[in-house]
Amino acid sequence: MTGQLECCQGDIARQSDIDAVVNAANAELRPGGGVAGALHRAAGPRLDRACRPLAPIAPGEAVITEAFDLPNRYVIHCLGPVYGRDRPEAELLAACYRNALELAERHGLTSIAFPALSAGAFGYPLEEAARVALATVHETLPRCPGIAKVRFVLFDAGSAEVFQRSL
Ligand code: AR6
Repeated sequence: MTGQLECCQGDIARQSDIDAVVNAANAELRPGGGVAGALHRAAGPRLDRACRPLAPIAPGEAVITEAFDLPNRYVIHCLGPVYGRDRPEAELLAACYRNALELAERHGLTSIAFPALSAGAFGYPLEEAARVALATVHETLPRCPGIAKVRFVLFDAGSAEVFQRSL
C-alpha cells in the first residue's frame, strides 16, 4: 500500500499528529538555525545531549532520537548536501529522504513530516529540491508499508506552492 503524501505551510516544530519530524541537521547535530534551531528550541536541552553520541553524520545519512518536549515521538536527523559542494547533490539529497523513511519504517512509525531539506542555509534551489524530495518519497514508500502518512511542511506560502505544484 502506498501511504498518503501531503504538503502544507507551517512550522515543523508544531506537527502534533505526526510520529516523527525530520531535522535539517548540521554534521555535528547541534542546534544551529532554521529547522534545527526551531526543533532544538522546542525539544529542550535533552535533545542536544541525546544527539552528541551520534555525531558527526555524513551527507545523506539519517539518525533517530527521542523528541523530548516536542509533540512527537521521535526526531530523525538528516544531513542534506550543501549545494555546489557535496556531490552528487541530488543523490545525497535523495539518500536523506530514503534513509529517513526506512528508519521510520524500522521503528514501526506510521507518520513522518519533512521540511525542505537543504533548501535553506545549504542553498539547494527549491524547485529542484522539491522534485528530488517528492520523487524519492514516491519511489521509497512502496517499500515502507507501515508508513501511512508523509507530510512536507514548508515555512512560507511560496515554498508550499512549489511543493504542491511538484506533487
Ligand atoms: N518549519 C518548517 N520549515 C522551516 C522552518 C520551520 N520551523 N525553519 C526554516 N524552514 P534550513 P538546510 C525552512 O536552513 O538548508 C541550520 O543552521 C527554510 O525556509 O533549516 O538543510 C543547520 O544547523 C528552508 O526552506 O536547512 C545546518 O547547518 C528549509 O526549511 C543548516 O542550517 C530548510 O532550511 C542546514 O541547512
